[in-house]
Amino acid sequence: MSPMNPDAGMPIRITLDPGVYYRCTCGRSSHLPFCDESHSGSTSHPIRFELEVRQTVYLCSCGKSRNQPFCDGGCGFEPPTPK
Ligand code: FES
Repeated sequence: MSPMNPDAGMPIRITLDPGVYYRCTCGRSSHLPFCDESHSGSTSHPIRFELEVRQTVYLCSCGKSRNQPFCDGGCGFEPPTPK
């Protein structure tokens, strides 16, 4: 799976506990959608994000979002407002 596939029509829906996360942008991670340092030696870098409460998030998988790493509807999917 490529984490930034412009043909992807849906974000990745995932429920996460509070904490710091690193969204893989290179597609090489064996723990997608998160970085496992497989990008080392490339020009790719993960996107860091932090959650203060447990919540369901929608991670962009097409690369069109202007609110990375979250989906902003650029793919045509309308993500629900975070609760
Ligand atoms: S493994 Fe892909 S950005 Fe780190």
